Amino acid sequence: KEVKLWGGRFEESVTDAVERFSESVSFDKELYRHDIAGSKAHASMLAHQGLITESDRDSILSGLDEIERRIRAGEFVWRQDREDVHMNIEAELTDLIGEPAKKLHTARSRNDQVVTDLRLWCREAIDRLLARIKQLQVSLVNLAIKNKGLIVPGYTHLQRAQPVLLQHLLLSYVEQLERDARRLMNCRDLMNFCPLGACALAGTGLPINRFMTSDALGFTGPLSNSIDAVSDRDFVLEFLSATSIIAIHLSRLGEEWVLWASEEFGFLTPSDSVSTGSSIMPQKKNPDPMELVRGKSARVVGNLVTLLVLCKGLPQAYNRDLQEDKEPLFDSVRTITGMLEVTTEFAQNITFNHARIQKALPAGHLDATTLADYLVKKGIPFRTSHDIVGRSVALCVSRNCQLLDLSLDELRSINPVFEDDVYEYLGVENSVEKFCSYGSTGSECVAEQINSWVSKLGIS
Ligand code: ARG
Repeated sequence: KEVKLWGGRFEESVTDAVERFSESVSFDKELYRHDIAGSKAHASMLAHQGLITESDRDSILSGLDEIERRIRAGEFVWRQDREDVHMNIEAELTDLIGEPAKKLHTARSRNDQVVTDLRLWCREAIDRLLARIKQLQVSLVNLAIKNKGLIVPGYTHLQRAQPVLLQHLLLSYVEQLERDARRLMNCRDLMNFCPLGACALAGTGLPINRFMTSDALGFTGPLSNSIDAVSDRDFVLEFLSATSIIAIHLSRLGEEWVLWASEEFGFLTPSDSVSTGSSIMPQKKNPDPMELVRGKSARVVGNLVTLLVLCKGLPQAYNRDLQEDKEPLFDSVRTITGMLEVTTEFAQNITFNHARIQKALPAGHLDATTLADYLVKKGIPFRTSHDIVGRSVALCVSRNCQLLDLSLDELRSINPVFEDDVYEYLGVENSVEKFCSYGSTGSECVAEQINSWVSKLGIS
């Protein structure tokens, strides 16, 4: 058995079960690029500070390049007995270049190393997610543009409420995604500080330059407290909170589209390319991708909870428990990436059934609030107009008709304030246009919103 890098004081080797139980290389090898980037920055700094020679630095840098090449080429053998990504790379470097490799860990601990790697990994993951979010926003805006003018029932409590433009509804998701992106950017800003040089927890007496490594790795600056530097996993918690909120947004969208794809609604049809069938019922065509988007949001939220509970009982500084931070983090990023990708594809492959939606619009008295506003314009206090329209709706219910089917005489029998112009307020087409205050669903407001998204997202 190979002697561990930390084996000096040990007389016995660890049992197989302990070795298997405590290894992390099987998953933290994901961090190899970031680990190598961190080691290169560290070695260059050590040479600059006169802690290692320039020739040591050069062999370390070229040795690390060779290791990176081998990992990329799939030629690198990851060894469980070398525990984690850090010691696999360091031990391999020692096999490769000999003595100089033994100087790399000067003024460094795996405690600052691992969390430096992790911050670099998160930063990169955030940049990739931001691009994915934007793709989904673009697809939703394009879907809205394709369905210009389509009025749909707006629901509250899943009951018919007011008419809205489909464009307006789709843009509500675009707005949510914009906040999701902003949350990720905030999280990126806050996490972009460098732990390297904090060493085990107390810093070091060796003359290192933490500003130099921080700059080289693109951080805003070094973290100012070495204990905080190795303790902190706030950035993981924040990142997982941000991904959980994205997951919830996508889940709600999934729920709506699954509902709308049902026979009962029939408002949209996904193309075959984003649907799947049943193994027993030959007629079935299911919107599985969006059901899975809804379903997978559970594990993203679960991963956040795992991290919260993981950190809850920890005393300050590094504790081995923290090794458990990686798998939930990696899983959430992988999962949310797939969710964004599939939702984007779904958005690109659904058709809204205009005829079916139009047929559905007369039900539910969607224009009732507009009628109440009409009475307000005639000088009636809103509470009174609410009551008048309520009674008009009751009349419709008893007659099984719509508000616009009531004659002026019938309306006047409820209240004499109604005039001929009332019919300009009735019916969903009239009604939707009356919503014209800033941020409303009327077509002019929505056209402005579409234009602003088109330019913000650079859609041509
Ligand atoms: N594999 C460890 C982790 O993921 C690296 C840090 C280990 N540090 C230590 N002192 N055992 O957290």
